[in-house]
Amino acid sequence: MTRKAAYQILDWLTEAGVSDITLEHCCSDEERFSQIDVNTSSLAELREIVSKINTPLKTCALNMVFGVGNENADILLLGEAPGAEEDRLGIPFVGQSGQLLDKILASVGLDRTKVYITNILPWRPPGNRTPTNQEIELFRPYVLRHISLLNPKVVVCLGGTAAKALLQTSQGIMQLRGKWTTADGVSAKILPTFHPAYLLRSPSQKREVWLDFLTVTAGI
Ligand code: URA
Repeated sequence: MTRKAAYQILDWLTEAGVSDITLEHCCSDEERFSQIDVNTSSLAELREIVSKINTPLKTCALNMVFGVGNENADILLLGEAPGAEEDRLGIPFVGQSGQLLDKILASVGLDRTKVYITNILPWRPPGNRTPTNQEIELFRPYVLRHISLLNPKVVVCLGGTAAKALLQTSQGIMQLRGKWTTADGVSAKILPTFHPAYLLRSPSQKREVWLDFLTVTAGI
Protein backbone atom coordinates (compact mmCIF):
# COMPACT_ATOMS: atom_id res chain seq x y z
CA MET A 1 0.00 0.00 0.00
CA THR A 2 1.31 3.46 -0.82
CA ARG A 3 1.78 6.07 1.90
CA LYS A 4 -0.89 8.21 0.19
CA ALA A 5 -3.43 5.36 0.29
CA ALA A 6 -2.61 4.70 3.97
CA TYR A 7 -3.19 8.38 4.82
CA GLN A 8 -6.48 8.35 2.94
CA ILE A 9 -7.65 5.41 5.03
CA LEU A 10 -6.49 7.11 8.25
CA ASP A 11 -8.32 10.32 7.26
CA TRP A 12 -11.45 8.35 6.60
CA LEU A 13 -11.20 6.55 9.96
CA THR A 14 -10.60 9.87 11.77
CA GLU A 15 -13.68 11.37 10.13
CA ALA A 16 -15.62 8.28 11.14
CA GLY A 17 -14.69 9.04 14.78
CA VAL A 18 -11.96 6.45 15.31
CA SER A 19 -9.35 7.82 17.72
CA ASP A 20 -7.24 4.73 18.46
CA ILE A 21 -6.20 1.69 16.51
CA THR A 22 -5.18 -1.49 18.32
CA LEU A 23 -2.61 -3.68 16.63
CA GLU A 24 -3.46 -7.29 17.40
CA HIS A 25 -0.04 -8.70 18.03
CA CYS A 26 3.60 -7.79 17.80
CA CYS A 27 5.51 -10.70 19.19
CA SER A 28 5.12 -14.29 20.35
CA ASP A 29 4.72 -15.30 24.00
CA GLU A 30 8.22 -16.73 23.85
CA GLU A 31 9.60 -13.38 22.73
CA ARG A 32 7.57 -11.54 25.34
CA PHE A 33 8.73 -13.65 28.23
CA SER A 34 12.33 -13.69 27.03
CA GLN A 35 12.23 -9.91 27.46
CA ILE A 36 11.94 -10.15 31.21
CA ASP A 37 15.15 -8.88 32.71
CA VAL A 38 14.42 -7.22 35.99
CA ASN A 39 17.77 -7.56 37.72
CA THR A 40 18.41 -3.85 37.78
CA SER A 41 20.02 -1.98 40.60
CA SER A 42 18.70 1.50 39.82
CA LEU A 43 15.50 3.20 38.76
CA ALA A 44 17.30 4.75 35.79
CA GLU A 45 18.30 1.31 34.56
CA LEU A 46 14.78 -0.04 35.12
CA ARG A 47 13.32 2.89 33.17
CA GLU A 48 15.67 2.10 30.30
CA ILE A 49 14.70 -1.59 30.30
CA VAL A 50 10.98 -0.84 30.51
CA SER A 51 11.30 1.60 27.61
CA LYS A 52 12.59 -1.26 25.44
CA ILE A 53 9.81 -3.75 26.21
CA ASN A 54 8.27 -4.99 23.03
CA THR A 55 4.52 -4.36 23.28
CA PRO A 56 1.84 -3.21 20.81
CA LEU A 57 0.85 -0.53 23.36
CA LYS A 58 3.87 1.47 22.25
CA THR A 59 2.55 1.81 18.72
CA CYS A 60 -0.47 3.81 19.91
CA ALA A 61 1.01 5.71 22.86
CA LEU A 62 2.89 9.02 22.62
CA ASN A 63 5.07 8.73 25.72
CA MET A 64 6.12 6.19 28.29
CA VAL A 65 4.81 7.07 31.75
CA PHE A 66 7.24 5.57 34.24
CA GLY A 67 6.85 7.17 37.66
CA VAL A 68 7.08 10.47 39.49
CA GLY A 69 7.62 11.80 42.98
CA ASN A 70 9.82 11.27 45.98
CA GLU A 71 12.03 8.21 45.49
CA ASN A 72 12.58 8.02 49.26
CA ALA A 73 8.88 8.24 50.12
CA ASP A 74 7.25 5.86 52.59
CA ILE A 75 4.13 5.79 50.42
CA LEU A 76 3.91 4.51 46.86
CA LEU A 77 0.67 5.02 44.93
CA LEU A 78 0.02 2.42 42.24
CA GLY A 79 -2.48 3.27 39.52
CA GLU A 80 -3.74 1.35 36.52
CA ALA A 81 -2.41 2.93 33.33
CA PRO A 82 -1.89 6.38 31.82
CA GLY A 83 -4.84 8.20 30.28
CA ALA A 84 -4.73 10.73 27.44
CA GLU A 85 -3.20 13.61 29.44
CA GLU A 86 -0.62 11.37 31.09
CA ASP A 87 0.27 9.96 27.67
CA ARG A 88 0.69 13.48 26.30
CA LEU A 89 2.94 14.64 29.13
CA GLY A 90 4.64 11.38 30.19
CA ILE A 91 3.65 11.96 33.84
CA PRO A 92 1.23 9.82 35.90
CA PHE A 93 -2.04 11.23 37.21
CA VAL A 94 -2.04 14.69 35.63
CA GLY A 95 -5.55 14.55 34.13
CA GLN A 96 -8.88 14.87 35.96
CA SER A 97 -8.20 11.82 38.13
CA GLY A 98 -4.82 13.27 39.04
CA GLN A 99 -6.35 16.57 40.10
CA LEU A 100 -8.71 14.69 42.39
CA LEU A 101 -5.81 12.60 43.67
CA ASP A 102 -3.96 15.82 44.59
CA LYS A 103 -7.00 16.92 46.62
CA ILE A 104 -7.17 13.56 48.39
CA LEU A 105 -3.47 13.80 49.25
CA ALA A 106 -3.90 17.36 50.54
CA SER A 107 -6.83 16.28 52.74
CA VAL A 108 -4.43 14.08 54.76
CA GLY A 109 -1.47 16.46 54.73
CA LEU A 110 0.33 14.86 51.79
CA ASP A 111 1.41 16.09 48.38
CA ARG A 112 3.43 14.80 45.43
CA THR A 113 6.73 15.65 47.12
CA LYS A 114 5.86 13.16 49.88
CA VAL A 115 4.76 10.18 47.78
CA TYR A 116 5.88 8.29 44.69
CA ILE A 117 3.34 7.53 41.94
CA THR A 118 3.46 4.89 39.23
CA ASN A 119 1.11 2.59 37.30
CA ILE A 120 0.82 -1.08 36.40
CA LEU A 121 1.18 -0.22 32.69
CA PRO A 122 3.68 2.39 31.51
CA TRP A 123 1.86 3.03 28.22
CA ARG A 124 -1.71 4.17 27.62
CA PRO A 125 -4.00 1.40 26.38
CA PRO A 126 -5.82 2.56 23.22
CA GLY A 127 -9.04 4.38 24.03
CA ASN A 128 -8.28 4.03 27.77
CA ARG A 129 -9.45 0.43 27.75
CA THR A 130 -8.76 -1.73 30.80
CA PRO A 131 -5.36 -3.48 30.66
CA THR A 132 -5.61 -7.09 29.48
CA ASN A 133 -4.44 -9.99 31.67
CA GLN A 134 -1.56 -10.53 29.23
CA GLU A 135 -0.43 -6.92 29.58
CA ILE A 136 -0.65 -7.11 33.36
CA GLU A 137 1.36 -10.33 33.35
CA LEU A 138 3.97 -8.80 31.07
CA PHE A 139 4.51 -5.71 33.25
CA ARG A 140 4.06 -7.24 36.73
CA PRO A 141 7.73 -8.26 37.19
CA TYR A 142 8.80 -4.70 36.36
CA VAL A 143 6.25 -3.24 38.76
CA LEU A 144 7.57 -5.53 41.52
CA ARG A 145 11.13 -4.43 40.76
CA HIS A 146 10.04 -0.79 40.68
CA ILE A 147 8.52 -1.20 44.14
CA SER A 148 11.50 -3.08 45.57
CA LEU A 149 13.97 -0.45 44.29
CA LEU A 150 11.93 2.28 46.00
CA ASN A 151 11.37 0.20 49.14
CA PRO A 152 8.31 2.11 50.46
CA LYS A 153 6.59 1.19 53.74
CA VAL A 154 3.14 1.23 52.16
CA VAL A 155 1.76 0.64 48.67
CA VAL A 156 -1.68 2.10 48.02
CA CYS A 157 -3.39 0.35 45.10
CA LEU A 158 -5.64 2.84 43.35
CA GLY A 159 -8.51 0.79 41.98
CA GLY A 160 -9.33 -2.80 41.21
CA THR A 161 -6.90 -3.30 38.34
CA ALA A 162 -3.85 -2.26 40.38
CA ALA A 163 -5.05 -4.32 43.35
CA LYS A 164 -5.73 -7.44 41.30
CA ALA A 165 -2.42 -7.14 39.46
CA LEU A 166 -0.36 -6.72 42.60
CA LEU A 167 -2.24 -9.14 44.85
CA GLN A 168 -2.95 -11.69 42.11
CA THR A 169 -6.43 -12.15 43.43
CA SER A 170 -9.79 -12.56 41.83
CA GLN A 171 -11.43 -10.51 44.62
CA GLY A 172 -12.89 -7.20 43.53
CA ILE A 173 -12.05 -3.76 44.90
CA MET A 174 -15.32 -3.68 46.89
CA GLN A 175 -14.03 -6.56 49.03
CA LEU A 176 -10.39 -5.46 49.10
CA ARG A 177 -10.79 -1.75 49.82
CA GLY A 178 -9.65 -0.39 53.16
CA LYS A 179 -8.06 -3.63 54.40
CA TRP A 180 -4.33 -4.01 54.91
CA THR A 181 -2.88 -6.89 52.99
CA THR A 182 0.39 -8.27 51.61
CA ALA A 183 1.60 -9.76 48.33
CA ASP A 184 4.31 -12.21 47.34
CA GLY A 185 7.42 -10.34 46.32
CA VAL A 186 6.41 -7.08 48.02
CA SER A 187 7.82 -6.23 51.44
CA ALA A 188 5.58 -3.17 51.93
CA LYS A 189 2.13 -3.33 53.49
CA ILE A 190 -0.56 -2.88 50.85
CA LEU A 191 -3.82 -0.96 51.12
CA PRO A 192 -6.24 -1.07 48.19
CA THR A 193 -8.64 1.83 47.77
CA PHE A 194 -10.95 3.18 45.09
CA HIS A 195 -9.51 4.76 41.95
CA PRO A 196 -9.98 8.56 41.68
CA ALA A 197 -11.72 8.02 38.31
CA TYR A 198 -14.35 5.96 40.14
CA LEU A 199 -14.78 8.80 42.64
CA LEU A 200 -15.43 11.21 39.77
CA ARG A 201 -18.35 8.96 38.82
CA SER A 202 -19.38 8.11 42.40
CA PRO A 203 -18.51 11.12 44.60
CA SER A 204 -20.38 9.62 47.57
CA GLN A 205 -17.44 7.18 47.97
CA LYS A 206 -14.93 9.99 48.59
CA ARG A 207 -15.30 9.61 52.34
CA GLU A 208 -14.19 5.95 52.16
CA VAL A 209 -11.05 6.93 50.26
CA TRP A 210 -10.32 9.74 52.70
CA LEU A 211 -10.62 7.22 55.55
CA ASP A 212 -8.27 4.85 53.67
CA PHE A 213 -5.68 7.59 53.29
CA LEU A 214 -6.00 8.40 56.99
CA THR A 215 -5.33 4.69 57.64
CA VAL A 216 -2.26 4.93 55.40
CA THR A 217 -0.81 7.97 57.14
CA ALA A 218 -1.45 6.37 60.54
CA GLY A 219 0.27 3.19 59.34
CA ILE A 220 3.67 4.66 58.44
N1 URA B 1 -5.38 6.67 35.84
C1 URA B 1 -4.39 5.84 36.25
O1 URA B 1 -4.64 4.74 36.73
N2 URA B 1 -3.15 6.27 36.12
C2 URA B 1 -2.82 7.47 35.63
O2 URA B 1 -1.63 7.79 35.55
C3 URA B 1 -3.87 8.31 35.22
C4 URA B 1 -5.15 7.89 35.33
